[in-house]
Amino acid sequence: MSQTLILLFHPDFSRSRANRALADAARARSDTEIVDVQALYPDGLIDIDCEVARLLKADSIVFQFPLQWYSTPPLLKAWQDAVLTRMFYIAAETEGAKLASKPLLVAVTAGNVQHAYAADGANLFPLRDLLRPLQATANRCGLAWAEPFLIYNAHKADDETLQAAGEHYANRLGRLGGQAS
Ligand SMILES: Cc1cc2nc3c(=O)[nH]c(=O)nc-3n(C[C@H](O)[C@H](O)[C@H](O)COP(=O)(O)O)c2cc1C
Repeated sequence: MSQTLILLFHPDFSRSRANRALADAARARSDTEIVDVQALYPDGLIDIDCEVARLLKADSIVFQFPLQWYSTPPLLKAWQDAVLTRMFYIAAETEGAKLASKPLLVAVTAGNVQHAYAADGANLFPLRDLLRPLQATANRCGLAWAEPFLIYNAHKADDETLQAAGEHYANRLGRLGGQAS
């Protein structure tokens, strides 16, 4: 069975509602492993060998996080600097090349509403455009960029809405196996 690895980067998961709803729904899938990266490395000291091994084992990779200042939480950036630099600069042939063509999905929750993310909206750019650095990273690493999974208005959404988002996410993960969609 194709295995999906979700790397969850939430600076304060104990207070999360949206990412928790997504994680709970994903956890119900037998083909999906969720790793709470912040909980593993509260001091920011990333075990690079362990992270590399996790990626090599996975068939599909998901970065799940709340949008913070139009960007990723700092630990995801630190994780990229540590893990991807090792895999794609230092050990490109023995490690990085082994990730070739694996799908990368980013699953992002944003506090603002969807229409704020537009040229004529408060945030000026579509959220997909703000995620382009991650798309460029996927391209650099030979990963297959999947259409991002986006939740807007995340901190105001009621429980039913978040539960529906979780179901939608779980279905999306089910379709991820093996290729970008
Ligand atoms: C430091 C910080 C920065 C944030 N920046 C943004 C932002 O740039 N755009 C946005 O739409 N929401 C922003 N938010 C709101 C979060 O994205 C939102 O609360 C989160 O996605 C809700 O998910 P959760 O329930 O899992 O925490 C920010 C929140 C924090 C704490």
